[in-house]
Amino acid sequence: MIIGIPRETAEDETRVALVPPAAKDLIEDGHEVCVAATAGEGSDWADADYREVGCDVLEDRETVFERADIIVQVRALGATPGDDVDPYTEGQVVVGQLGPYDLDEELELLADRGVTALALELIPRISRAQSMDALTSQASIGGYKSAIVAAEALPKMYPLQMTAAGTVQPSEVFVVGAGVAGLQAIATADRLGASVRGYDIRLEVKQEVESLGADFVELDLETEGSGDDEGYAREMDDEFLEQQRKELTRVVGESDVVITTAAVPGRPAPELVTTEMVEGMDPGSVIIDLSAATGGNCELTVPDETVEHDGVTIHGPTNLPATVSHHASQLYSNNIANFLENLYDDDTGEIDTDDEIVDSTMLTHAGEVQWTHPAERPDPDEASEDDQNDGSGEEAADVEVDDED
Ligand code: NAI
Repeated sequence: MIIGIPRETAEDETRVALVPPAAKDLIEDGHEVCVAATAGEGSDWADADYREVGCDVLEDRETVFERADIIVQVRALGATPGDDVDPYTEGQVVVGQLGPYDLDEELELLADRGVTALALELIPRISRAQSMDALTSQASIGGYKSAIVAAEALPKMYPLQMTAAGTVQPSEVFVVGAGVAGLQAIATADRLGASVRGYDIRLEVKQEVESLGADFVELDLETEGSGDDEGYAREMDDEFLEQQRKELTRVVGESDVVITTAAVPGRPAPELVTTEMVEGMDPGSVIIDLSAATGGNCELTVPDETVEHDGVTIHGPTNLPATVSHHASQLYSNNIANFLENLYDDDTGEIDTDDEIVDSTMLTHAGEVQWTHPAERPDPDEASEDDQNDGSGEEAADVEVDDED
């Protein structure tokens, strides 16, 4: 296979989908790799580094699209503001973060062209897929960086300092949402010496939060049904969120730093920090809203901007992993390489559509759209009621009686 690495086009995207060491492994496995000139520059990889491991460096991004069987990208399609659908050609495979939840007519277009589009955001959270899970590798970096950005913006130090000039109390950091990003934010703030608290709607993460040295905040809320089978949160109703905000007010008011990471895949981020709650924080406090790209957990968040309200600074970064581009690219490349290794059936040499990971990530293949946005899928509760009604048992008996009548 010829694997192509185009330059990323999203503004401020500094990562690259395959770094030279990962490209080298693929070449040793018998593939060819071509890369657009300067594609690796943002993550400190020069064209010469790619040449050295045997990649073909092409001047034009377009030539990469023309030449490659498989295009690998960090952000493409819905994950790239502006469209990048045109360059794909018949039979081509595209692997990357494709922003599936934001795609619409692009899917039909890709299917019509016979493109196989595979979105890494849809990798199931099963152990066999961990080495391919780009959301996890990148969220972990985002979580780490959020604690650093907050430390930089805060006019206080994180750790307790007992000096001859007096004692400085540790800063209070509160992390809302203890998924991948949240846990890494907790770990980083804790390592820097802050006094850290964490909260999540899923009570099962309590132990993980505590094992990182933080206190888990338990709210007096009914959380049954808050998680799905894959370990993601479900969207909660307005009444629940209202109650949650009331209970969170005190903890937010006591915090110097609030890092919010609460997310539900494919849905807008829940609004957990209101303007009133921000006004209850001390001047100089900092909020880092990692969910800015999906609407924000804080009412005042503006994506990719820093706003100040009542002395509190609110950051809404949407792409922190790109600020740690070297390591982010390294981990992303490994995710891509592991994904490619699993993509084809060893016997047939064809894309292994029976594989759970391939199937979960497949947006288009064989001229068809293969994926449905979760919001357009039938409600599982209604579907199971229908099943019961369709099934045998009393319902069926009733029907028979009715018929006899
Ligand atoms: P995740 O799915 O692992 O974690 C999200 C957590 O939020 C889950 O533990 C979930 O239970 C929790 N949650 C959902 N609803 C909640 C509620 N109402 N109250 C409290 N907790 C709630 O996701 P991950 O990978 O940690 O990413 C978190 C968010 O951060 C995502 O939106 C992701 O796109 C974003 N992110 C943003 C970055 C940036 O630079 N802005 C970098 C990395 C991730």
